[in-house]
Amino acid sequence: RPQPLIEVHDDADALATAVAGELLNRIADAQAAGQVPHIGLTGGSIAEAVHREIARLAPESGVDWGGVVIWFGDERFVPSDSPDRNINQARAAFLEEVGAFRVHSAPAADEVASAEESAASYADAFRAEGSGDFDVLMLGVGPDGHVASLFPGHPGLDATGAITVAVHDSPKPPPDRVSLTFEALNRAQSVWFLVSGEPKSDAVRRALADDGSIAETPARGVAGKAETIWFLDRPAASLI
Ligand code: 6PG
Repeated sequence: RPQPLIEVHDDADALATAVAGELLNRIADAQAAGQVPHIGLTGGSIAEAVHREIARLAPESGVDWGGVVIWFGDERFVPSDSPDRNINQARAAFLEEVGAFRVHSAPAADEVASAEESAASYADAFRAEGSGDFDVLMLGVGPDGHVASLFPGHPGLDATGAITVAVHDSPKPPPDRVSLTFEALNRAQSVWFLVSGEPKSDAVRRALADDGSIAETPARGVAGKAETIWFLDRPAASLI
């Protein structure tokens, strides 16, 4: 796999603008080539900033949002109207505004009986839509190096042979989640890590230095088939 690319931006706002602009360009280019790009979104605060920039920049982008399929790297297993749902945050930040409607997330706690059932349903949707090879998969990174809902030393890391996993006792609330597994995440053509803030700087260092195990720094377990880009702000890049 190719070496990761690293972009360092002054601060979170500049980082969010750069990511949103690059994503819109990639989608427009794919559509100009007659493709229907599949994009993986992530939860978290830097993702929220990126989503708001997508809404701001979208009108000038030429993107046809009926020709984009949206997925989520993970989802929280909470009621469908909960503000903790990644899909609700993305809908409020840009999906509704741009009119994106081909959007898939793991079912909510008032739609299925368990996170396990939600994981199975999401996997079925994945197989049905023939996707999995995301054109671009965005992932936030936790201070502990987690990505999606794959946390250090957590049983969800070892879910081999599956493309989704139910996660309980998540160290980051809420406790119950559904996550794509490494197998699914690594089917992406391009993986973009979105990392802002000094608390993440050691996770970035460990991930880029190949320091320690994947179990210790789950971000180390994910790379794009064609490219991996680390979009960092200066504080997050302070140790590399
Ligand atoms: C989630 C996210 C999670 C997030 C990281 C980074 O559902 O919580 O998918 O993986 O991306 O925790 O979040 P911040 O950017 O807010 O630090």
